[in-house]
Amino acid sequence: MRIPEEKIEEIRAAADIVDVVSGFVRLKKAGRNYTGLCPFHREKTPSFNVNPERAIFKCFGCGKGGNVFTFLMEMEQLSFVDAVETLAERYNIALSREGGPSQETRDRIEAMYEANRLAAHFFFDTLQGGKGEIGRTYYEGRAWTPETQRGFGLGFAPDGWRHFLDFARNSGMEEDVLEATGLIIRKEGGKTYDRFRNRVVFPIISVSRKVLGFGARALTPDDHPKYLNSPESAVYNKSRVLYGLSQSHRAIRDLDAVVLVEGYADVISLYQAGVENVVSTSGTALTPDQVHMLSRYTRNFFFLYDADSAGLSAMLRGIDTILDEDCDARIVQLPAGEDPDSYVRARGADAVRARLGEAVSFVDFITEQFRREGKLETPEGKTQVTRRIVDLVARMDDPLRREFYIHHIAEKYGIYESVLYRELAKELKSRGDRPRRPVPVEVAQEGREPEKTQGDIPREEKVFCELLLQAPAEIQSEVLQHVRIGHFHDPRIRRFLHVLFEQHEHEGHIQTDALWRYVEEDVSMHNLLADMLMDPIKPVSEWSRKQTVTPTDERRVLLDAYKKVVRRMVEVTHGRVQQQLRTDASPELLARFRELALLLRVRWDGILTFDDIPDVEEEGD
Ligand code: UTP
Ligand code: MN
Repeated sequence: MRIPEEKIEEIRAAADIVDVVSGFVRLKKAGRNYTGLCPFHREKTPSFNVNPERAIFKCFGCGKGGNVFTFLMEMEQLSFVDAVETLAERYNIALSREGGPSQETRDRIEAMYEANRLAAHFFFDTLQGGKGEIGRTYYEGRAWTPETQRGFGLGFAPDGWRHFLDFARNSGMEEDVLEATGLIIRKEGGKTYDRFRNRVVFPIISVSRKVLGFGARALTPDDHPKYLNSPESAVYNKSRVLYGLSQSHRAIRDLDAVVLVEGYADVISLYQAGVENVVSTSGTALTPDQVHMLSRYTRNFFFLYDADSAGLSAMLRGIDTILDEDCDARIVQLPAGEDPDSYVRARGADAVRARLGEAVSFVDFITEQFRREGKLETPEGKTQVTRRIVDLVARMDDPLRREFYIHHIAEKYGIYESVLYRELAKELKSRGDRPRRPVPVEVAQEGREPEKTQGDIPREEKVFCELLLQAPAEIQSEVLQHVRIGHFHDPRIRRFLHVLFEQHEHEGHIQTDALWRYVEEDVSMHNLLADMLMDPIKPVSEWSRKQTVTPTDERRVLLDAYKKVVRRMVEVTHGRVQQQLRTDASPELLARFRELALLLRVRWDGILTFDDIPDVEEEGD
């Protein structure tokens, strides 16, 4: 389901950012830009800028910035793909996807969505009408308010064989479309009838608000199955659907966490109670597609399951997927006999939140299960546990996180840390992973995250990049040959340089406005790009007045900027090694320290070519 790059670029180019932003912000023209009050933070004087030429926005107050996709993603809490689709629709650009379906198939799919939409309306209207009494009573029994019923589009399918069928036929729907969606069933001999009869109906809605299918619950225990679902079809793929996501995706992003439950009813009751960041997999194990969908909104997964749930063990088998997507899983088990729906009804949202606050990490959860099985008491058992844990930890990308888990497990369950590390090293090696960068000492000591997306970018690094972007093409190419990513400290800048290299390699030159396609849905890169483009630092010599500037000047400006980057790297590394020496006075470290101290005394003014810049890189990477 990839949208081709060219398509994304076409949509970005076609979309009028002033027009799109104006839907949310009152803009006033100010020179080349438009300004207005920032929609992302409170302010009284406008610091929000839109530059129509470059098709970017940037707020100098809160720092948010990016292109037209970023704007919609932030404003409407959409994923990248959703933002692209929304704009494609708005600007009438057909989204044919790579290896995607033909026009004919797409028309058919549209017709199926239309049938589902019609059905959702039919079930909803039926619930409100005379035949809906039974349904309304059922929902009242579950204490779901009319507002909740509306919010989830809950409905009722009346008893009888062809209520919906007749209605749909009268609305001009074709039977084979209805049959394809599973709304009606065709018997041998050709007679058709309604699939959903005498049931309360839960429409399954996508984030882009399409009706994908239905779950329909029986009213009495002897009516089987308890939940009758739409069959898989071109529009309903169980492994790609999460019930509740259309309602809950904003809350999931805002709270940066998702609560996973097993059933429709759990979603609705939690949501109504105020735990809005909830979705359900509808009784199946979480699939890789579902994990991927959720990872656009958050990486923090909380499983809220019944103690004796079969779903939980299925989920645990799927945990590898979650780690592979670099997400984190925590687990809350409810007391036996309770599901999230009954629990929240009996004890309220705060009790649920308290439980979520005590959620145990999946590593703990799995180890604890092994412990209960007595596996930690025998050497063979311990080996088995160690293997499983190491297998899980090895899937994590972040070395700090690995370290945290290894330390934690070693301490809590009395497994030697050294054994875990040795096994981990083996496992990583067999995965063909290269060794990870050592953890910088200040970070380890203070236990905070390494420079990631928070904090300011070192000025030297940003200035160099901005100057580079403004330089003439041949100078850019020349300078790029000398740039070493290892000389830069900030991870965002490093990523940005990777992007520049990638573009240069593919297209043979740097072209600022086409950089977007290399950063796709990476919002922090959108921010950075907008930042660099909206108000770039002006070079000392005026490059636009070409006649007065010789190429040497341009090279010189970049050389000076680059020297500052490298010098800063030397200073930072020097400071860090100095720190390290307090606890580790090994000869190697001491030698490194001397080398760095020497570099700081070099006459940097005297360095006149890129080749003469001393080579000091951060270890690793
Ligand atoms: P449960 O049987 O736990 O139902 O199935 P529940 O969610 O607690 O529902 P209530 O509270 O009795 O109404 C969990 C989920 O498994 C799927 C449904 O998605 C259900 O929400 N399921 C269950 C089916 O698809 N078919 C079934 O026959 C039963
Ligand atoms: Mn239930």
